[in-house]
Amino acid sequence: MKNLLCPSILSADFARLGEQVRIVADNGADYLHIDVMDGIFVPQISFGMPVIKSLRKVTDLFFDVHLMVTEPIRYIDDFAGCGADGLTIHMEACDDPRATLERIKKRGLKAGAAISPGTPVERFEEVYDLIDMALVMTVNPGLGGQKYIESSNPRIMQTRRLFKDKGIDMDIQVDGGITRDNIERVMSCGANVIVMGSSVFEGDVAGNTEYFARKMKG
Ligand code: DX5
Ligand code: ZN
Repeated sequence: MKNLLCPSILSADFARLGEQVRIVADNGADYLHIDVMDGIFVPQISFGMPVIKSLRKVTDLFFDVHLMVTEPIRYIDDFAGCGADGLTIHMEACDDPRATLERIKKRGLKAGAAISPGTPVERFEEVYDLIDMALVMTVNPGLGGQKYIESSNPRIMQTRRLFKDKGIDMDIQVDGGITRDNIERVMSCGANVIVMGSSVFEGDVAGNTEYFARKMKG
């Protein structure tokens, strides 16, 4: 399975967003991770469709949109229309996660399901046949720069096992608190799609991206 590096623009300098996106694209990023927050599912509000639409003009990178939004089914068509390539919804945020994921697939986008740290891994059972990616949050969603929750390690392993038992080579994404110190460990637990906000965008953006790309892909 391929390892994929996903810089999260939540930690970018929004005054220089286009420029910084080009830098990560040119230095080995696979996906651009785009965190949309609605102030209800999480207390924070980040940004929405107009930003994605503008970014679509500056890069061909895969847009991996992480919807921290209540009932995201309301917005699937809008996000598809502004250039998202993949949409990840939270199991906790949907009345009917299957209907939401089916709507995403119907628009021809990759579909992801996410669970927050307090949510049992078994919730992936409800949607395993509909998703292209399972996101195991390794911090409580809402903010960049938080500390990795150590009890995520067994949850990543459990998720890998859940899909393996079904014969599925699932992309397993981790998001939150990933750094130079723990990236190898999360990968050895079974994660292959790695989101990084502050570890990429703080300091030397090109150098950080190159470092993690080399680390993950050799
Ligand atoms: C948090 C977001 C993350 C965030 C990660 O709710 O989903 O994508 O940007 O930031 P770091 O890597 O700094 O923890
Ligand atoms: Zn995210």
